[in-house]
Amino acid sequence: MRGAVTKKDLLNFQGLTREEVFALLGEARRMKEENYRGLELSGRVIALLFEKPSLRTRTTLEVAAVHLGGHAVYLDQKQVGLGEREPVRDVAKNLERWVDGIAARVYRHETVEELARHARVPVVNALSDRAHPLQALADLLTLWEAFGTLEGLEVAYIGDGNNVLNSLLEVAPLVGLKVRVATPKGYEPEKVLLSWSGAVFTHDPAEAVQGAHALYTDVWTSMGQEAERAKRLRDFQGFQVTPELLNLLRPQGIFLHCLPAHYGEEVVEEVVHGPRSRVFDQAENRLHTAKAVLLHLLG
Ligand code: CP
Ligand code: NVA
Repeated sequence: MRGAVTKKDLLNFQGLTREEVFALLGEARRMKEENYRGLELSGRVIALLFEKPSLRTRTTLEVAAVHLGGHAVYLDQKQVGLGEREPVRDVAKNLERWVDGIAARVYRHETVEELARHARVPVVNALSDRAHPLQALADLLTLWEAFGTLEGLEVAYIGDGNNVLNSLLEVAPLVGLKVRVATPKGYEPEKVLLSWSGAVFTHDPAEAVQGAHALYTDVWTSMGQEAERAKRLRDFQGFQVTPELLNLLRPQGIFLHCLPAHYGEEVVEEVVHGPRSRVFDQAENRLHTAKAVLLHLLG
């Protein structure tokens, strides 16, 4: 049994400083440039406890662990039954005896908080209904690479005020990003994050996009909201990212999307695969930022 340990979690960006965020981004950038492989996590194991599907998050965490000399164990909800077959606390108190860290993808943010409260090993939020911090780090690295700075960049986020937007808003003031948000009525992001970020808010997509450095969108129906899809498709009319909307960006402006994309809903295919798109750089950067996070929390 382990003794008392001071452990770090990454559930969102609360409590992180500007210096810590830039240290993670700098480390990710360095590891990307070096195509870094190391042994810092040799013999260390991270559990990936996922209630929902994933391509990018699961793969990048697994590959990141291997590149650092460690190992990941994937535990899906059908097997574990987090909160169903077994209470969240009990799962935490089992896992902490075997593994050195837990990355959890959950429906309710409270679940990842409960895991972090009860596990004595670091817990990483691999997406909850409220936040997706691993995605936001990759978004920042992508913007930094595209423009050589983050300070003063204007990013227009169009669509649903969801987990991806919440994390972008939360980290934005730490790195000097200026966010403009356009959502339909009733789909605004968390008020406290809007005011913390200093974001400009509108219900008009064109107004948000005009002259910005980047246009970011995400799905209108997130995982777990499938029953609302028909209503959402109606409510989000006018918020689709088309080549015309993209052309309102400044000339060197780029397109971002965390993926997966729902083509014909929030975006059309030619935007995702077009010349301004950086979505596959974002996807690649999930790996490099995941490596930086694992080193920071488990190294
Ligand atoms: N962007 C992202 O988190 O993708 P996955 O859902 O495939 O992990
Ligand atoms: N908002 C989306 C992000 C997927 C990576 C969801 O939660 O399903």
